[in-house]
Amino acid sequence: PVPTEVARITAQSVSKLTPIESSKRAAAYIAVDRHVKPEHKIIGIGSGSTVPYVVERIVQQGAELNKGRIFIPSGFQSKELIVSNKLNLGDVDLYPTIDVTIDGADEVDNELNCIKGGGACHLREKCIAEAAKTFILVADYRKNVEFLGTNFTPGVPVEVVPFAYAKVLQNLQHVLGSPTATLRMAKAKAGPVVTDNGNFVIDAPFSRDVFRDPFTIMARIKMLTGVVEVGLFCRMAICSYFGNEDGSVSVKE
Ligand code: 5RP
Repeated sequence: PVPTEVARITAQSVSKLTPIESSKRAAAYIAVDRHVKPEHKIIGIGSGSTVPYVVERIVQQGAELNKGRIFIPSGFQSKELIVSNKLNLGDVDLYPTIDVTIDGADEVDNELNCIKGGGACHLREKCIAEAAKTFILVADYRKNVEFLGTNFTPGVPVEVVPFAYAKVLQNLQHVLGSPTATLRMAKAKAGPVVTDNGNFVIDAPFSRDVFRDPFTIMARIKMLTGVVEVGLFCRMAICSYFGNEDGSVSVKE
């Protein structure tokens, strides 16, 4: 099936934000309004620049409701977001069943497969997505694509234990068909990016043909010894909200 845009929803006032920020906020607000219900007590919070609007909207649901809730972060950023908004902090080892998790995405295709890990958080993000009864994506319109790899060119983020990175890189380049895969470096090339889990990240671009079957490439990468997690989330989300430039929101489900 080819999911299409099934809804256009007018966002609230977006005058003070840039168009991109407005679109992120519109998507986040609608996702919270539709999926974070009063009966939801354990809530997963993803990472990235769209997720602060998710938390903003949850806070607007009121202190009384949020007093009885526990929020599960996907990394350092979301932990700070939860704490700074005076929400109750939990962790996925204490709460392995989550009512609903909302997270951003780097790209989402028409089958609701997505690339995540632009912020190197995809291991914990996948944990809280898997733990959730309902997993929802929120993003701006640039992430809404027919096929993965259309706009997000760095490739699939692959978290790898540091001592195995060279071997995994070699396999990605020469065996799995990603000749330009590279180790992600910190700004100013001060050294490799280190994840919240003390690991490195390799970014591995693939051709359109490979991305036609994201599950297969995800499984093949995951089989490489030393790989901890792959930033391909195959059909995990039940729907994805994309804020548009005109303030409306499109939904893929
Ligand atoms: C971090 C992620 C983010 O959710 C993803 O990069 C999207 O971020 P943004 O909302 O800033 O576009 O996967 O690892």
